[in-house]
Amino acid sequence: MAATAPMAAPDLAQSPFGQESKGKRRGVQPLRAGQGHSFLWRKLHSLSGIVPIGAFLIEHIVSNFETWNGPLAYAQQVKFLNALPLVRVLEWAFIFIPLAFHAGYGVFITFRGRANVNVYPWASNWMYISQRVTGVIALAYIIQHVIRQRFLGVQLPEHPGAAFAKVQHELSNPWMLAIYVIAMVATTWHFAYGIWLFSAKWGITPGERARKRMGYACAALGSALCLMGLISIYAVVWKYPNAPADVMPAQPAGIVQPAPTTAAPGTTNPTQPGEVR
Ligand code: HEM
Repeated sequence: MAATAPMAAPDLAQSPFGQESKGKRRGVQPLRAGQGHSFLWRKLHSLSGIVPIGAFLIEHIVSNFETWNGPLAYAQQVKFLNALPLVRVLEWAFIFIPLAFHAGYGVFITFRGRANVNVYPWASNWMYISQRVTGVIALAYIIQHVIRQRFLGVQLPEHPGAAFAKVQHELSNPWMLAIYVIAMVATTWHFAYGIWLFSAKWGITPGERARKRMGYACAALGSALCLMGLISIYAVVWKYPNAPADVMPAQPAGIVQPAPTTAAPGTTNPTQPGEVR
């Protein structure tokens, strides 16, 4: 029966660790021309999951890991990122727009696909479902996260010193804490299995052995990223309780640090501390 019934995801008929569904063709078919007009969109969707979104996810988790070193270290990291040239352009071009495309097309794929895990209860189908479920969890989480942390409340680009306290305040709500933990697991799972899928589809891991090895590498990377994310949450909630509201209070406009003294002995120093230039 299993061999003749329709299959929901023939191109995902293999799990990372080589458990195959009976009756399904071995391996993951590469994305090919001839699969219709969606070919280009599928390619773009697949690539966008790695660059720029996956690369950004790694950067974001590594940056947030600075919370382990305390509110000031985290503030310096936020300040550094916001001081990058053309940072607002970078934000839209390499994060918001690609993410909106990947998520939008991902939702389309998710609700067009048939979830037949009840009919074919093998590992590969669970992985197929997991990629869609974790994608939807990530989407719901990212929408509220971006709205609440990036656009509402104290503006971190102008007040990086308030970053730690802002997240701490958010995570003081136990429901929000649970949402962050679930989202961290779901997002890193989605990314890790996504790398495995990408490698199989783009011909990076053509053989079964290569896919098995890649499975272990992705599991290791996903676990490491997830652990780093959970450690950051721990640091914000428990390691540094009652963080100051802002560890980098703004300098009054027009005041700059004094230049090093260069005046010759016996002459007047041209720049005095606190002087407005
Ligand atoms: C943190 C943000 C995200 C990252 C880093 C990410 C990364 C990836 C990667 C690397 C892949 C594998 C690409 C491939 O199949 O070749 C993928 C696949 C997928 N993503 Fe995402 N993704 C993210 C967010 C989302 C969101 C919000 C959705 C919305 C539902 C989503 C839905 C999907 C779906 C459905 C697939 C499977 C595509 C397929 O089977 O062909 N992803 N993602």
